Amino acid sequence: MTNGSLLAGRYGRIYRQLKGLFTQKADRTARMATIAALLYHKMPHHFWTGFYIVRDKILTVGPYQGPLACQVLEKPKGVCWAAVIHKKSIIVPNVHEYQGHIACDSRSNSEIVVPLFESSGEPWAVLDVDSRKLGSFTSVDQEWLERIVSLIETG
Ligand code: SME
Repeated sequence: MTNGSLLAGRYGRIYRQLKGLFTQKADRTARMATIAALLYHKMPHHFWTGFYIVRDKILTVGPYQGPLACQVLEKPKGVCWAAVIHKKSIIVPNVHEYQGHIACDSRSNSEIVVPLFESSGEPWAVLDVDSRKLGSFTSVDQEWLERIVSLIETG
């Protein structure tokens, strides 16, 4: 079995567990907190897992797991803002080669950021995951993290 299919299997189990947990009326904060906790504790390559919420020209940290993080990210610097501005997921294999990357913790070496959209199509938050290893994130992470954040609005 490839690493990709092992990873997909793990994300799939987390996705199904989250679906089972999200039976109450959708509450964004409760769901973001639950997603961050489950991903961080079940995925070995997740070193920091959490959300930043769009508030005008500032991204403010939301529920997260992992080491202490930056509380605010000012527009337009960094990977999180790039995902909001371009309205798409971004994988950064080496954060040291990404111009404008904001290092909240010097131990992070690669990163993935997935935007969350209002029904209008405007981003209202991002899911950000950091890894201590270079090149940790692939299209498998992207596909499953996009599916997982879509659960925030369902039900
Ligand atoms: N690296 C992010 C900042 C958030 S931390 O990684 C938790 C960025 O460049 O936007």
